[in-house]
Amino acid sequence: MPTSRRVLVVGGGGREHALAWKLARDGADVLVAPGNAGTASIAENVAIPADDIPSLVRLAKDRGVDLTVVGPEAPLVAGIVDAFTAADLRIFGPTAQAAQLEGSKIFCKQILHRGDVPTAMFQEFRSVARAREFLEAREDVPVVIKADGLAAGKGVFVCDSREEALAAVATLGSDPQFTKAAAGILIEERLDGMEVSVMAITDGRTIVTLPPLQDHKAAYDGDTGPNTGGMGAYCPTPFVSPDLMAEIEERILVPTVHSLRRSKVPFQGVLYAGLMLTTQGPKVLEYNARFGDPECQALMVRLDSSLLELFDAAADRRLENVAPPRWNEAASVTVVMAAEGYPGPVEKGRPIRGLEAAAAIEDVVVFHAATRQAPEGIVTDGGRVLAVTGTGESLAKAKLRAYSAVKEIRWPGGWCRKDIADKAFDHERRSLLTAGTAVAPQPEAGG
Ligand code: AMP
Ligand code: GLY
Repeated sequence: MPTSRRVLVVGGGGREHALAWKLARDGADVLVAPGNAGTASIAENVAIPADDIPSLVRLAKDRGVDLTVVGPEAPLVAGIVDAFTAADLRIFGPTAQAAQLEGSKIFCKQILHRGDVPTAMFQEFRSVARAREFLEAREDVPVVIKADGLAAGKGVFVCDSREEALAAVATLGSDPQFTKAAAGILIEERLDGMEVSVMAITDGRTIVTLPPLQDHKAAYDGDTGPNTGGMGAYCPTPFVSPDLMAEIEERILVPTVHSLRRSKVPFQGVLYAGLMLTTQGPKVLEYNARFGDPECQALMVRLDSSLLELFDAAADRRLENVAPPRWNEAASVTVVMAAEGYPGPVEKGRPIRGLEAAAAIEDVVVFHAATRQAPEGIVTDGGRVLAVTGTGESLAKAKLRAYSAVKEIRWPGGWCRKDIADKAFDHERRSLLTAGTAVAPQPEAGG
């Protein structure tokens, strides 16, 4: 038996803790750069920031890393995969050019257009003045204003009226945080429907679709408040039936992969489709070039077969020959616990109590997101602090477990949404009701 494989996970959030946790269970010897207090307990943290690509290349060489897995988008867009490949190092993730699928919304729209993939209609503008003229000339309808480039989820404005849209365009033009991202501005048709996340692992030709999830992007209960990186997720979501999943593969994921390949930008890594389920079928809101966070946490606890094997096969372009992943029958619910002030500025360094009691609850994993080991114990180190994940034979049990663990954990100002997965329960109740009324008026069952 050879010694265990050495894998490097790049990043330091909840998604990276979940990846490191699963890879360690798959038998890998895991390094995480830079990691957090949670990854330190299952892997070796190396204090290199995720965007210091030259140091990461050196680390992988020096420590004999056999495969590198990249969590966040920034190093992907900055070319970490190109740098590793040039240094003859194996890495799972898209090249800088392919990561433009997330890094440039205009590039994404071009790929979708070439693949005839359903998405919102849009217009592209290279100046604030042009965008403003367009809005002023056209009828007053709900639109979405987007900065072309990466803006940490903040460059999207969902607008009810022309007035709001003009204000959004003005913000993109004047706020220095958008100067780079807003070199291009998109004005999109606003879509209505239920939002879901569908991810697939691809080697550029073959895709392996992962179970569908639902994220909770708004900060507060009932989908109110500002947009965040994601306040919780659950898996699987009942909004994507097996038939709908087949349609999503056939009309969205496969044509996207082909369109990328035809455009000479093969994509290897995680393709994350943010979808709106509209009355005209599923449409792409956005693509990400990586696992979702917190979606990844809710996925990893359900994966029984090897993640390492999937990453290896994708990195070596032989996904076609790999057995489909096995998912356990459990459902999972991930609740993000955030620091006071998130998604705005937060104070760091608050000691967290109750982590052990929470982790001792059966079928609960407490993934760390922004935590740090300090002399006085584990302390908060950013906005999204923990991703508390429960599993159970039903979504209701998974939710109960996740929230009983949340109850054990506390620090001054710590908070979470209380309604993660509730849309699924509402949906179940409505389906039961419709099933009940649909049965009554049918006079015969056809003999
Ligand atoms: P994005 O970063 O492009 O995913 O946008 C962030 C959020 O804005 C999405 O999760 C949606 O809730 C919303 N959004 C984006 N595009 C649209 C659209 N065309 N119609 C309605 N909502 C949208
Ligand atoms: N949870 C949404 C994202 O990772 O972009």
